[in-house]
Amino acid sequence: MFSPSLEGVVVGETAVSEVQGVKGQLLYRGIAIEQLTALPHWRVAVLLACEAPVHEDRLVDFERYMRRHSVLCTQELALLDALSSTLHPMLMLQAVLPAINESSNTDFPLPMSSAGIAHGYALAAKIPALLVYWRTRQLERIADANIFTLCSPDHGSLAWFLRHFPGANDNADSRHVLNTAQVLQMEHGYNASTFAGRVCASTDAPVQSVLSASVGTLYGPLHGGADQAALEMAIGIGQPQNAHQFVLDTLNSKRKIMGMGHREYKTLDPRAAILKPMAAQLCQHDDAHANIFATLRAVEEACQEQFAMQGKSIHANVEYYKGAVFHSLGIPSDFFTALFAMSRVFGYLAHYEEFRKHPRLIRPRARPARQIPE
Ligand code: COA
Repeated sequence: MFSPSLEGVVVGETAVSEVQGVKGQLLYRGIAIEQLTALPHWRVAVLLACEAPVHEDRLVDFERYMRRHSVLCTQELALLDALSSTLHPMLMLQAVLPAINESSNTDFPLPMSSAGIAHGYALAAKIPALLVYWRTRQLERIADANIFTLCSPDHGSLAWFLRHFPGANDNADSRHVLNTAQVLQMEHGYNASTFAGRVCASTDAPVQSVLSASVGTLYGPLHGGADQAALEMAIGIGQPQNAHQFVLDTLNSKRKIMGMGHREYKTLDPRAAILKPMAAQLCQHDDAHANIFATLRAVEEACQEQFAMQGKSIHANVEYYKGAVFHSLGIPSDFFTALFAMSRVFGYLAHYEEFRKHPRLIRPRARPARQIPE
């Protein structure tokens, strides 16, 4: 079979999640995402990781494990200081995750057995602190090292992240919103970055290389990077009144509208269905945010009109309204995809564990290129 870009090709199986593209449904281990958004995101991470339900005591131990490993040591802070603070947060993560020393992780509480899996979760635990520190450096502020090196009772949690990320709104509503968004973007079948991780794992590369390969793949604007691109597109358009012309110009010049379209969903992405009303509510309190939301909605309407005329079933995906949600939480757009990585890393680890149970090198074939007549 010849299918460049692997469209429609089944290359493996997974029990971690199921994407039902025609119905517009997403299930994590058989449970619809709509039923999971109220659960704390670390609990959802465990649900993804483990085939059987995990006892409450183990869940508590897992949260303790994550808190303990979320601290950064002085060497790790020095590693970050050695990089240029202009580096995009996604490039920082891709570079730094494999460079963090493996500590002794003998107390890892989940029933998982693949090589290095405990280290993988220890790395996932550090991402909130890496991003807070990176934003502090980006703003050229002097960070209080104790915030990162001393373990507090909620270290590394989403509440800790919002409390310490410069400029973020930290209140109960923001925590709920961030938790929902993080649960929604935690896992999505054989998406490009998870597949890249599985390919990397198939070569017997260590878990830190797998995470780095996945993060690098997530960064692109056709994948996770669309969240930053969609919000910046709306800001660039400026007003809802400009949306129709923008859509015409973009489609006429054969460019893509960021945050629209999906390889699997042929209807509205179920995650966008949750994020859109959330963005509407969050954006209504502030004129600038309300204008961004109104612009996104106007672009979506113009797209629906144009795509329908072209006979194409293209709808908003998870990235489209997510940027408006994160923006209203006080997160700058160049950190959107890194927050995506902060959550999707749990999907990568669940797939790593699943793959390593039945490992075999992933190696497709290429056919000889055909000569194109001049
Ligand atoms: N804007 C405009 N046209 C789009 C489009 C978009 N966002 N998404 C798809 N299309 C059009 C293509 O131009 C193409 O038209 P054609 O057949 O007339 O040439 C057709 O739909 C198929 O697009 P294609 O890119 O081949 O489909 P795909 O399955 O490979 O694409 C995406 C999936 C996600 C890469 C694509 O929809 C896209 O680039 N979206 C924007 C980036 C984005 O939001 N990514 C995040 C995904 S979660």
